[in-house]
Amino acid sequence: MLEHFQSLAEKFSVNPDAFALSGGREVVRCLGDLDGCFRDAVSYSAALACGNPVLYRVIAVEPASGSGDLHYGLGILYPGKVGSEYYLTKGHLHRTREAGEVYIGQRGEGFMLLEDEASGESRLETLGAGRVVYVPGFTAHRTINTGTVPLTYFGIYPANAGHDYGAIAERNFRKVLVEEAGQPVLKDR
Ligand code: F6R
Ligand code: MN
Repeated sequence: MLEHFQSLAEKFSVNPDAFALSGGREVVRCLGDLDGCFRDAVSYSAALACGNPVLYRVIAVEPASGSGDLHYGLGILYPGKVGSEYYLTKGHLHRTREAGEVYIGQRGEGFMLLEDEASGESRLETLGAGRVVYVPGFTAHRTINTGTVPLTYFGIYPANAGHDYGAIAERNFRKVLVEEAGQPVLKDR
């Protein structure tokens, strides 16, 4: 019996400090994978010429994919900047546009940049330890690390959400989060 519970604990455990989530598939994104995401193309090329560091990792668990099922994942976004712009995720809309998502901050400091697809309206939501961010459907979303330690977060989304990177990559988010006098400032791109 005890063995059974131990194996269940292993099967369903999450450890944000060790960036571990059982049963998931890991995706690793490096600086070179984020071509066109940062505002300052000159700083991006200069940074890439010095190396291709890992910017973030995501472990996604997809237990089932029927109607009403959920997927979930643990993300870790490392601290850093390209020029004055903080490290960020590519950002996406869900392929099933009406699919929302819940992000739960675990460690670190940062934000989520949300952009309504139809109106183009932007919202910056704090994401960090103990913060919950609800991403409504029809909303492009991107995670940004403004701190000095890795930002880890847990995300839960409908199994049929999917990822559409193309639509937002074509025009990019309308706002950028840059450091000015040591503070994050949201500006028009
Ligand atoms: C899933 C989701 C997150 C992101 C992760 C990486 O719907 O929003 O798990 O996939 O934060 O960001 P992207 O996918 O934009 O590279
Ligand atoms: Mn998403």
